Amino acid sequence: MRIDVLTIFPEFFGQVFDFGIIRRARKADIVQINVIDIREFAVDKHKMTDDRPFGGGDGMVMKPEPIFAAVKHLLGTTDREGYPEGSRVILLSPQGKPLKQPMAESLAEDADHIVLICGRYEGVDERVNETLVTDEISIGDYVLSGGEPAAIVLTDAIVRLLPDALGSETSAENDSFSNGLLDCPHYTRPAEFMGMKVPEVLLNGNHAEIDKWRHEKALEKTKKNRPDLLKIGEDGESG
Ligand code: ADE
Repeated sequence: MRIDVLTIFPEFFGQVFDFGIIRRARKADIVQINVIDIREFAVDKHKMTDDRPFGGGDGMVMKPEPIFAAVKHLLGTTDREGYPEGSRVILLSPQGKPLKQPMAESLAEDADHIVLICGRYEGVDERVNETLVTDEISIGDYVLSGGEPAAIVLTDAIVRLLPDALGSETSAENDSFSNGLLDCPHYTRPAEFMGMKVPEVLLNGNHAEIDKWRHEKALEKTKKNRPDLLKIGEDGESG
């Protein structure tokens, strides 16, 4: 998979993609990640990437021209109908669809080239959304100063699901949300710490019992912290 991040703050990304699973996936060539400065595609002599909003109001809006030029450079066209197969252009914004695990799973499975557009200021000229963007995604119901942290979150959520990214010793199958529940609690050595004991069932080697205990604890945790995940909505979807 290839991920291109379009931002006006490339330095923001520093070393975030140089640790843990993402670093390993990059080294193994499972994913290539490029951070690209939108300013490189600015058309005027001042390299402007934002301007005042039509209709008035506070703040600045990101201009369409540099973003169109960057996408044209990366995907060969500015018409989303004509993108190469498996290409997605994702705008990170608080107006987007909320990111959920199934969305990360389908991107990891279906996409092989993802362009992430990090919005800034009061927003991005809507013509970007109308023409270039295949998916508009929000990472939660709060407003960040820009899409950059959201691009990092989305990249992490996708890359760890790519085949072989986690390595053989771990698996995404037991992750929180992968079965609609939060993950169960985990313990490691020592078996007793400051008088607190690891639950006996985890020490007895009976895997049927351990699985049953883990499922019960996952359910308990979900009921306590995320009861919304257990409700079946009118559309038949949980949460
Ligand atoms: N940009 C600003 N807030 C955001 C959010 N919640 N999700 C994605 N991008 C954003």
